[in-house]
Order: sequence, then structure tokens, then C-alpha cells
Amino acid sequence: MDDYNRRHFIRTSIPGFLGLGLALPSITAIATRANAFEGRVPENGAINWNAFLEAVEKETAKQHLDDWNESDYVKKAAALALRLNLKDPALAKAFKNTEKGIGNKRIDFYDLEKQRDFQVNLLQFEKNEQIKHHDHPDMTGVILCATGSVDVWNYDLIEKKENKTVLLAETARATLSKGSVSTLTSKARNIHRLKASELTQLVDIFAPPYNKERARKSQWFKVDPKPLQKLHGKHKVYQATTR
Ligand SMILES: [Fe+2]
Repeated sequence: MDDYNRRHFIRTSIPGFLGLGLALPSITAIATRANAFEGRVPENGAINWNAFLEAVEKETAKQHLDDWNESDYVKKAAALALRLNLKDPALAKAFKNTEKGIGNKRIDFYDLEKQRDFQVNLLQFEKNEQIKHHDHPDMTGVILCATGSVDVWNYDLIEKKENKTVLLAETARATLSKGSVSTLTSKARNIHRLKASELTQLVDIFAPPYNKERARKSQWFKVDPKPLQKLHGKHKVYQATTR
């Protein structure tokens, strides 16, 4: 019962509350399932949705500490995402919902969870659908490809010039297929573009979550198709304007 916390109570049904005194074994079972990541399943075994949220909640709560390290966090969150059991019944409804979006010629967004320190979304792209260059101000992101295939280009903003002109260095490029992840921090790879080559579903974890301020600060970029001759280290550099 040491691990009992607010979430377990929230996720316990009303009859569960009413029968609290009589139903300790079943409530303990809920806590056991919810904490499956804490040694009750093999180190790299699949974790259920509740256990995944518990673990992400725990890791993202550390963003308020002085020694928060975003690079370390995204590695941990990526490892958790890779262990998430996507067939968990708690996620099945969300995945079922995505069927309604097929054929609507736009990318579909579904909220899976939003808390003080993070949010999780499900995104669905159809073939050739894309999200053009945009940033995630003061945020980290972990993107898990659940199904399909998506190309991801990441950039760092390396210079601000006049008239909304900026220079972006392409710092990562990958094709994500089922079971692979892409990460960004507030400092590295924060700008990205995604284009799906087939029907694709992504599970995104953002920490901190979007709020009014972060949504207001987020920007779209119009990026020149050809890189500049000048290179920033080994990376291609593109001129872009913010929109
Ligand atoms: Fe994004």
C-alpha cells in the first residue's frame, strides 16, 4: 500500500470508494497493475497504460528540480515509450477512434492524457500527410511510432537575423517505423517537420504540456528548399522565415 497515491484513487471507481473497507485485495491489485514498471514485470517487459503514465508522471515531475537534465529525461521517456503495451485495453478505444479520421484529408489529433507536467497525444497521418516546420518552445518531446512510417527532420535554430529571418541547422533526420522514437529538447532538435509515407499513428509525450503561453510562443517556419553553402559543423544549414 506504500505506493498508493492520488492517481490510484482517481482511477478507482466510485463503487470502489464505497467499498474501500471491504475491497482491499482488489484495490491492492489495481495498485499492483499500476506499478507494473516498478519491478513487478521484467526490466524490459511491456508496461500497461497506467504504469506508463505513472512512470512518465514521476520522470516529468523532476523538471521542477534545479538538476533537471532534458537530454537524460528524453532518453528515459523514450525507453518508457518503447515499453508501452500499445494493445492495452485502455488505449484500444483511442486507436479505435482513429478509424473515424481515415479519409478526412487532415492529420487527426487525440488527447490521451494531460497533467500538470506532461501531455500525451495520439496523432494519425495518412499517406503523404505532413506537419511542416514548427517548434516547441521551452518543451521536450518524445515521439513513438505506433504504426506506419514517418520521415522526421529536426533542426536547431542557430541564428536570428533581421525581418523574421533565421538560420536552421538540420541536426537529425530519420524514418520512424513501428517501434521507433524521435526526441527533442528545448535546446536540441526542437524544430521539426514530419511526413508520413503510409497510414501512420504516433504517440507523443510533451513535457511540460502546451499551455496558453507555450502555444502563443510556438512558431511555424517557411524553410528554403535548398541549404546554404555554408555549413554549421557537419549539419546542413537552411535559411527560413518565421510565419
Ligand atoms: Fe511537433
